[in-house]
Amino acid sequence: DPAARLDHHTLERYETAWLGVAVVLTVLLFVGVLASLISGTYPLLKAGTGHAHDGPVVKGRVDPAQLAATPFATPGLVVDRAGQSVLNAQGTLDAYLVAGGFTFQPAVLRVPAGVPVTLHVTATDVVHGFQVTGTNVNVEILPGHVASLTVTFRHPGEQHVICNEYCGAGHHNMITRFIVEA
Ligand code: CUA
Repeated sequence: DPAARLDHHTLERYETAWLGVAVVLTVLLFVGVLASLISGTYPLLKAGTGHAHDGPVVKGRVDPAQLAATPFATPGLVVDRAGQSVLNAQGTLDAYLVAGGFTFQPAVLRVPAGVPVTLHVTATDVVHGFQVTGTNVNVEILPGHVASLTVTFRHPGEQHVICNEYCGAGHHNMITRFIVEA
């Protein structure tokens, strides 16, 4: 029966066509999963810089070899000649912190309670973490980059800052303190 044969051929063509569609969809799915893995992993690695919900994060750059020519040369709160902390144009205090050699500088940072402080943090050697315990401040610190985040410590007391990014033998000793003063 030629009509039946035709149907059979049409059916085969359909099957071939659907098989083609399935193959294309599988390939697209594979490429899609691969692409999302690649693009998904990369932001994950960099996501640290966006975790400080207390304030805007402004990413800057600095040459790790030229820190002496920057405010990072004198880590700590920016003060005037009289030793008084000064508000910047944004109405926050500035503090510069350097991570490197399994330490943070300054070893202790004194900040006033209730005043927004913009922390500028960079690393000298490898990637470090910068997590202020008890807060959502948690950023990744990369050499050559400056993570800037504004935080207001509302309550006087002591906060610890830890490195939560494995950076070598002294990683677990990498800790500093913020003393929030009334
Ligand atoms: Cu620095 Cu871990």
